[in-house]
Amino acid sequence: MTIDIDWENLGFNYMKLPYRFVTHYKNGQWEAGQLTEDATLHLSESSPALHYGQQAFEGLKAYRTKSGDIQLFRPDENAARLQKTADRLMMPQVPTDLFVSAVKSVVKANHEYVPPYTSGGSLYLRPLLIGVGDIIGVQPAQEYIFTVFAMPVGSYFKGGLTPTNFIVSRDFDRAAPHGTGAAKVGGNYAGSLLPGKQAHDAGYSDVIYLDPATHTKIEEVGSANFFGITKDNEFVTPLSPSILPSITKYSLLYLAEHRLGLKAIEGDVVIADLDRFSEAGACGTAAVISPIAGIQNGDDYHVFYSETEVGPITQKLYDELVGIQKGDVLAPEGWIDKVELD
Ligand code: PLP
Ligand code: COI
Repeated sequence: MTIDIDWENLGFNYMKLPYRFVTHYKNGQWEAGQLTEDATLHLSESSPALHYGQQAFEGLKAYRTKSGDIQLFRPDENAARLQKTADRLMMPQVPTDLFVSAVKSVVKANHEYVPPYTSGGSLYLRPLLIGVGDIIGVQPAQEYIFTVFAMPVGSYFKGGLTPTNFIVSRDFDRAAPHGTGAAKVGGNYAGSLLPGKQAHDAGYSDVIYLDPATHTKIEEVGSANFFGITKDNEFVTPLSPSILPSITKYSLLYLAEHRLGLKAIEGDVVIADLDRFSEAGACGTAAVISPIAGIQNGDDYHVFYSETEVGPITQKLYDELVGIQKGDVLAPEGWIDKVELD
């Protein structure tokens, strides 16, 4: 079968692929689950996922290597994060084996949709865990659906490695100090839709949120974590209990220190002290590494390295990370999980 897709210009859009994986949790256990061609979920109108937001999701990618193989980047970390999110929302954990085998089965079944090595695209996988069933009180569901679907994607932010502008949200927080900011739950994203729309309408790629308690420190971007490179060659990324523990961010902290020889720091990023950074970026599975040209903070507009060029250290981090993901650079032990097609 020849698939008619413009691999070079994918963007980040839903595409209905032939197969997805679905399993149900009933009577205290997960069923084995199976691949299905049915892209519609069937659930009770009273499902807690719909009313009280008892749901969680993940995002990870499968990459085509130069030799045509397909590989996943740290899928066990996504499984572990979904387990933590599940604990926070009183949902049953999806065991790592079930998570990873579900992801691999979806990649394998849709392997023709993994973009070519040269395209710059990848296959984005969206695992989703939802509380379902006939419950109307505010209480955890007794039944759950875990599904994994996929689609080929390109850049999340327009321009990929071309720097873009971001704006600090002064009117809205993404998370509460002791809320669900560190969990990958849909509610965090529902709350970000309005500030996100206002930012896009004003020409910015996304919103930068400040810490909800003091509004003095950068937390993260609506759809990615934040990092900065100081003039003293430190890789700095915010430390906060209300940001999403980004797998890309932790990978970059490691690579910055062990491959680039930078000092890697998780700490405070004070919004009034952006001058200490020579480069900055957003990082995440969808965002990959997206250089930040400038940040609008009220009337202040702060430019980092350049409004048009990616900074040299950001470029090196990108080459290292993407090189590992696509199989061109030797990966640290355990970071790459191959998908066998037969
Ligand atoms: N922060 C937010 C709010 C996100 O949605 C994402 C995307 O998953 C990230 C950070 C980056 O996390 P990861 O690198 O695990 O994809
Ligand atoms: C991801 O990078 O996987 C995310 O979940 C970000 C998303 C909001 C598109």
